[in-house]
Amino acid sequence: RVLIIDFGSQVTQLIARRLRESGVYCEIHPFNRVDAAFLGEYAPKAIILSGGPASVKTATSPRAAQEVFELGVPILGICYGEQTICAQLGGDVESSDHREFGRAKIEVVKASALFDGVWEIGSSHQVWMSHGDRVNAIPEGFEIIGKSEGAPFAAIANEERRIYAVQFHPEVVHTPDGAKLLSNFVRNIAGLQGDWTMAAFRDEAIEMIRKQVGDGRVICGLSGGVDSSVAAVLIHEAIGEQLTCVFVDTGLMRAGESEEVVRLFRDSYNIPLIHVEAADLFLGKLAGVDDPEKKRKIIGATFIDVFDAEANKIENAKFLAQGTLYPDVIESVSFDGGPSVTIKSHHNVGGLPERMNLKLVEPLRELFKDEVRILGRELGLPEHFVGRHPFPGPGLAIRIPGEVTQEKAEILRKADTIYLDEIRKAGLYDEIWQAFSVLLPVRTVGVMGDERTYDHVLALRAVTSTDGMTADYYPFTHEFLGACATRIINEVRGVNRVVYDVTSKPPGTIEWE
Ligand code: XMP
Repeated sequence: RVLIIDFGSQVTQLIARRLRESGVYCEIHPFNRVDAAFLGEYAPKAIILSGGPASVKTATSPRAAQEVFELGVPILGICYGEQTICAQLGGDVESSDHREFGRAKIEVVKASALFDGVWEIGSSHQVWMSHGDRVNAIPEGFEIIGKSEGAPFAAIANEERRIYAVQFHPEVVHTPDGAKLLSNFVRNIAGLQGDWTMAAFRDEAIEMIRKQVGDGRVICGLSGGVDSSVAAVLIHEAIGEQLTCVFVDTGLMRAGESEEVVRLFRDSYNIPLIHVEAADLFLGKLAGVDDPEKKRKIIGATFIDVFDAEANKIENAKFLAQGTLYPDVIESVSFDGGPSVTIKSHHNVGGLPERMNLKLVEPLRELFKDEVRILGRELGLPEHFVGRHPFPGPGLAIRIPGEVTQEKAEILRKADTIYLDEIRKAGLYDEIWQAFSVLLPVRTVGVMGDERTYDHVLALRAVTSTDGMTADYYPFTHEFLGACATRIINEVRGVNRVVYDVTSKPPGTIEWE
């Protein structure tokens, strides 16, 4: 197994993700927790030193334990990792006013095991740089294997000791060959097999959950979405009857969603589930409210009230399980001398753990959305469930600009079902990150048969994205859009006009509210 020593880069998790993709198990540990004793126990087969925001030139600069360099295992330093290798092994790093940030070209000046089969000597390649300090002189025994305009020591190697260091970030997609270089490092240089799979993650996660929870009771709030469902099934495998799920039905779900969740959990998995039907409560609180932020706040607060009341009936509950994913977690290593790791996490039920005095169980917090889907399949969740598009916590309420009513929610559900049905029939569902309809608070005049109509406008939205942070609208054909519009207007009473949203994010957001 590989040890990733974290110096606090925002993209350290991406290194782990790339290694998992090439079938190699790894763990991330903050630099200030990795000492000689830790290394002895962990016995890493290879070590990667991550990037980080610090400067190696300050007195309190973070360092890797010197023992790291005495183990004789292959080492790869990335960005700050390169700088600290140079500083710790007798090279020199200088502060520079000239920050290099973004795309750069690297030229391969020497063949290396790191580049084997990927980059040839003399060729140039795009890489992603992000650094302030730069290496001035490399330690004895090292050679330059790649250089860029801003970084004459963009890649260096000591082939004999199998220590490599790069100034660029191979883990990000803006370094197109980066994944192959990382794979070279762990598989060819470190000789690891590449036989790790999500099945192994499942087993390890189950062990961890058992260790954390002991014989305590765990409550899990199900939202109907993929993340909380996968978390619940995984935890149930680990601790069985110690888990109770609570599903608050807000009446703002997509068509058939609540029924499916209840069926899946009760019948297929036999997981204890409390189903709270609270549609009237939520719609009552939303009556007369049209401000988007107020709607969100009301839904959040009502959800917490209902959940709290139910959870309080469960005796001895000590833990709250959440399907928090890595992109929900902003994690940073604290550099002010203390060993503490500051973790901020945000989620729909924020505030709940403190109020209920519960500890969090978050078995998915190292995974990305697509990895959670793979884990869901591993756990036997049905394909159409696992592949489902993301759905926001406040549900259909934020897809009905203006006041939300039962009638509008019904119209929206019907129209949305047809839209998604057409997308599935066209084989496009899995190409799209998210597709949904928005019921506008605008009425327009139409003519159906010989009758005048005066009904709502429905907007269709579909975007591609990798993480929801940025998105492009999906380029449907006009024929496809026309066919959707015809079906929706013919089959859904209350809608007489359909438009398509061609805004990307930024400047738009994915949802309308
Ligand atoms: P926006 O609209 O901000 O959405 O571009 C980005 C992604 O987040 C989802 N979203 C939410 N998810 N609770 C959630 O769990 C929320 O309050 C929420 N608001 C937006 C949205 O569907 C998209 O996938």
